[in-house]
Amino acid sequence: MCGIIGYISQEKGVSKKIIHNLKKLEYRGYDSSGICLLKGNTFLVKKSVGEIAKLEQKLNFVDDFDCGIAHTRWATHGKVSLKNTHPHLSQDKCWAVVHNGIIENFLELSKLIKSKGVTLKSETDTETIVALMALQNGDDNIKKLNEVTSMLVGSYAICLLHKGEHALYVARRHSPLYIAKNDNSCMVSSDPVTFGEDYGTYYTLPDDCMAKVTVDKIDVYDKNLNKICVKPSEVGSFEKSAELGKYSFYAEKEISEIPKVIDTILSNYKIVDHFKKINKTFYSQIKKVKLIGCGTAYHACLMGAKYIQNYAHIEAQGYIASEFRYSKPLIDKNTLCIFVSQSGETADTLLSLELAKNMGAKTVAVVNVPYSSIAQKADVVLPLCAGMEVAVMSTKAYNAMLLVLMLLASHLSKFTESPQQFDYDVLKSVDFFKDVQKIDPITDLVLKSEKVFFIGRGEDYVTALEAGLKLKEITYINCVSIPSGELKHGTLSLVDNKSLVFMIATDKNLLAKNISSASEIKARGGKIVLVTNLDEIQSGDIDYVYQFDKITQKFSSIISIIPFQVLAYKTCLRLGYSPDKPRNLAKSVTVE
Ligand code: AGP
Ligand code: GLU
Repeated sequence: MCGIIGYISQEKGVSKKIIHNLKKLEYRGYDSSGICLLKGNTFLVKKSVGEIAKLEQKLNFVDDFDCGIAHTRWATHGKVSLKNTHPHLSQDKCWAVVHNGIIENFLELSKLIKSKGVTLKSETDTETIVALMALQNGDDNIKKLNEVTSMLVGSYAICLLHKGEHALYVARRHSPLYIAKNDNSCMVSSDPVTFGEDYGTYYTLPDDCMAKVTVDKIDVYDKNLNKICVKPSEVGSFEKSAELGKYSFYAEKEISEIPKVIDTILSNYKIVDHFKKINKTFYSQIKKVKLIGCGTAYHACLMGAKYIQNYAHIEAQGYIASEFRYSKPLIDKNTLCIFVSQSGETADTLLSLELAKNMGAKTVAVVNVPYSSIAQKADVVLPLCAGMEVAVMSTKAYNAMLLVLMLLASHLSKFTESPQQFDYDVLKSVDFFKDVQKIDPITDLVLKSEKVFFIGRGEDYVTALEAGLKLKEITYINCVSIPSGELKHGTLSLVDNKSLVFMIATDKNLLAKNISSASEIKARGGKIVLVTNLDEIQSGDIDYVYQFDKITQKFSSIISIIPFQVLAYKTCLRLGYSPDKPRNLAKSVTVE
């Protein structure tokens, strides 16, 4: 994952700007961070383990530097330590590099480098890049970069500084990289979100391309060293939407934005015909639908498969992208593959998209970041309209994914013999946070329990999966999500008087079955919290009922997750952990 920044200016004193913008990339990784500044022949490197704020404290020098690169790390190779923190310098101290991605053949490359008498100081794959640059002969640095990138297997977005040159050298394969320019400066970044304050347009460096960036110009080359022309994109409102405002944490801000996001989707899909290409002929050619994503997006895929199968009567299944790619999937031109992703950069989802395209599938991307790789590669893009999501825990994007997938299913249903009626306007009158203060005593129950379970049937099982992911992701509480009917096939043996079971029940038809599961839990001493929007609950086995706002069965899955998003957030705060930056994780998983 990791975030990289490169900045070159006509003015001196660049470190503040670099760090200010590096912080906007902190969602990509926050193990450690570092900066390398250049002025003529002088490099200055500062590194720190932990959040960027710690690096900032080390910037107590006279800053007369006019060029620099910086990095916020999510370690893949080599533990979190100062030694492994980027930027890395070549042994001859002529090159410095920051890198996002994984060099898969780094062991092989390390051997080659060592055989040339060069010592590698870190345990990272990244250092091989800078060592290889230093081993190249000649004066043409773009040629050298091309030579080196042709030796790399894996993914990378790299930005390099060369001693004595007022220039940034960049290259990418699979990991994202963007470049912006104004009259005085150029910035290279993993995300255009850093461009909002100073630039009106930016360029997306194409895959397998390189560029030399100076204050005056950006020269882009393909792998045959031909100069290529790249069209600029406008810095849009999405890139500017990451301000924290009055909130203490992004997680809190993003959960509170759910009603607004639902509203935006409904109005946007009314104004723009995103389904134009998905017409009757398109529908008649689809024999099956595969929905592919990771983590929370995978849960949205599971839910979307249910919507499509129920409303559009096409066989549909959700897949975990990292499994899908290696499952020898049966795909042809009659397969519709839907890729669901908030970031649009998740490596496994992106590579699954490439696989499906190569096999002739029709592809649709349900994606939040409009300029992302997945959005650029799919045949049809269905935007999530959720605005930038910064907290690692995905919240508003999940509700948005469900609504957009439901809009797709209802659109497809129009071509069936039994089109479904969807009164989306009812969503406008929902009180999304009804009785949310009642979650506090439930937080107490969670903290008192030794084991936490989430159970449900049908759509509620998918909510149970997502609820479990939310809780474990930011509170580090080990929990199990399981279909209610599966409990007695093994997991029930874990239930005892130290267990807390969340039962999600939104389907009247399945209520009796859920009540039976509640009795089975109660008989083993477990405590039960029922999360429901139904009135008809009559069971002495339930310890606590949390009732969210009434809404028709069709839409309940979009709302029923909200109490669990709030529960995870509140529990996390009670435990004193960071809700935005959980340990070991990062927002955008651009490595396999
Ligand atoms: C969600 O809370 C997680 N941080 C994670 O599971 C995430 O949903 C997953 O990595 C997929 O990301 P994407 O939606 O950006 O593809
Ligand atoms: N592989 C590099 C490291 O571990 C970069 C990690 C990444 O971009 O995820 O330092």
